[in-house]
Amino acid sequence: MTTWRLRDLTLPGRLGVTCLLLVIAGGLWASMEHLEDHHENRDSKPGVSLNDLKGAYHGVWLPPALESALNRNHPESLPEADKTNLLKWLKSKSPNELYDEPVLGAEAPAEILARNCVSCHGRKSTDPSKIGETMPLEFWDDVKKVVFPTVIDPVPTKILVASAHAHLLAMATLVIAVLALLFASRWSAAIKGWVTFVMCVGLLGDFSAQWLARGSVEYVYVLIASGGLYVASSGLALFLVALELWMPRGAD
Ligand code: HEC
Repeated sequence: MTTWRLRDLTLPGRLGVTCLLLVIAGGLWASMEHLEDHHENRDSKPGVSLNDLKGAYHGVWLPPALESALNRNHPESLPEADKTNLLKWLKSKSPNELYDEPVLGAEAPAEILARNCVSCHGRKSTDPSKIGETMPLEFWDDVKKVVFPTVIDPVPTKILVASAHAHLLAMATLVIAVLALLFASRWSAAIKGWVTFVMCVGLLGDFSAQWLARGSVEYVYVLIASGGLYVASSGLALFLVALELWMPRGAD
């Protein structure tokens, strides 16, 4: 039995479909780039981190960098009393006012930092780590960057609905189109079936996890895994269709 396949198209026809494949691949690439621009700066570190995604879909609270540093015993040279005072200061209501409070004398955070930290975290420090250039701790303007927690609020429900409204229908339609091309190819029913399965499960998993992650943050991993499966299987489908178009017809 011979069934019609994409390879049976005329040369212009096959060139046309190839252009379409490139457009779809370009669209997938642009979506990934957009994803990066859209999410990368939530935790004010470059690149999309797990915290950026957890923040967007669930919300994240990260302790102040100074608190994490003290809790991992950084710097080891810090006397226990100074450490206790710094931790107490971080928990206070107004760290900015207490920072160089004269009443505190040598216990004032500014004094503790000057004694224990500026030798490395100073702009003129000669410490080989050069940490003083990237993270100076000399003035309140430097220090205020490490004393407050990072709070990332999840995307508002309204925006998630707006995004779902635009994306679900467009992406489902795209999947139908890509699968239609794949089904008009020479590949076995098993390959077609598995690619269809992974693409569709990936898409459903990604969109469901966007909602489920609001309740439990673990779903962010489901979101990443399903998004990855969706993109990988779409890429594979496009590749299989390209092979179909340009590989010799073969015997059938
Ligand atoms: C001997 C040099 C040295 C001293 C003294 C020192 N630091 Fe650091 N600090 C570093 C270096 C190097 C890094 C970067 C590598 C790292 O994170 O361990 C760093 C990193 C940090 C970070 C970022 C850690 C993170 O988890 O992002 C904070 C906050 C910090 N220091 C605070 C302090 C404070 C507060 C003091 C004084 C109580 C202090 N440091 C004293 C060298 C020093």
